Amino acid sequence: TIYQSSTTAPVNIAVVKYWGKRDPKLNLPTNSSISVTLSQADLRTHTTAACSSKFTEDTLEINSKLQDVSGVRTQACFRELRSLRSALESADSSLLKLSTLPLRIVSENNFPTAAGLASSAAGFAALVRAIANLYELPASPTELSRIARQGSGSACRSLFGGYVAWQMGEKDDGSDSVAVEVAPASHWPTMRALVLVASAAQKDVSSTSGMQTTVATSGLFPHRAKVVVPAAMAKMERAILEKDFATFADVTMRESNSFHSVCSDTQPPIFYLNSTSHAAIRVVEGINKVAGKAIAAYTFDAGPNAVIYFEEENKDSVAGTVQALLGGLDGWKGKTFETQDTTKLDQKAVGVLKEGVTRVILASVGEGPIKTDES
Ligand code: DP6
Repeated sequence: TIYQSSTTAPVNIAVVKYWGKRDPKLNLPTNSSISVTLSQADLRTHTTAACSSKFTEDTLEINSKLQDVSGVRTQACFRELRSLRSALESADSSLLKLSTLPLRIVSENNFPTAAGLASSAAGFAALVRAIANLYELPASPTELSRIARQGSGSACRSLFGGYVAWQMGEKDDGSDSVAVEVAPASHWPTMRALVLVASAAQKDVSSTSGMQTTVATSGLFPHRAKVVVPAAMAKMERAILEKDFATFADVTMRESNSFHSVCSDTQPPIFYLNSTSHAAIRVVEGINKVAGKAIAAYTFDAGPNAVIYFEEENKDSVAGTVQALLGGLDGWKGKTFETQDTTKLDQKAVGVLKEGVTRVILASVGEGPIKTDES
């Protein structure tokens, strides 16, 4: 017999950034963070977890390629989930002894892996959720986030939909470093995100090694972790609860800039943004200037792709402007917006953006993992 369960898990894009570990083994961060979970139509990982006595060893396949499962991250997730299942089996002898069977995990992304599109976040969230479902664990998303965090820090936030905080915690064992819901997607459902893909290539410096070098060498970093981020966390939580887009935008853009500043302050410096990213910043500033207020907010992770947050009511001014500039690029799925006047924008930035963006993905704030078992 093969026992199996499938799930999808979403991508999340941080608006208060995680950058720095106080414990690299457990992925315990030096600061808390907040993200928005994106809708799964365009960005998600689908994972099936199976176990059987017919399997000879644990295996993990991502986009049809067999991965090495011996890494500490995957091992930590397997071990923690097996131990929860094993505790259930000890308490109830009628339960099948699934915890001792080899696991076969098959995972598929519908977006480019390692392009700075948070594939590790959706990937580990889906892996943990799928195995937890297979094992019928009664664990809450917050409890599972403690496990997903050990796969990839940002993955802990992808166990929830909507607006999610990862509380850094204080304990050495990481038991209080978990994700919690700030607000469900339904609280502020009009949030949209436009992803401008500037490169689908693998990123230069992985976030794992990049953030460790920043912690070790950046003089600005302690100020960011101790002063800048705690203030941003408080402001951002309030902005989300009050659906205050102007504050949301201000904190989001400052946070992205602060994160990329400590990257430049790293020795040797880390540059994730390229000329296309800089052009996207100028264009967003132009859009906000024309509107007379912040209706769009840019943010960048460990790569050059821009994510632009905006509200549905401003879709024409934001997505319409981007569409007028970039045209019907692959990924719009036939969506059309009212065409906007783009003559007031920085024309040099417009030229660079047109040159560098290869794909556009439009998403909304979305739900957490969704079980996809057929029966
Ligand atoms: C810039 O979660 O990929 O996207 O814990 O080493 O796997 P590891 O790092 P990862 O780092 C993400 C960094 C970021 C900011 C964020 O998502 O908060």
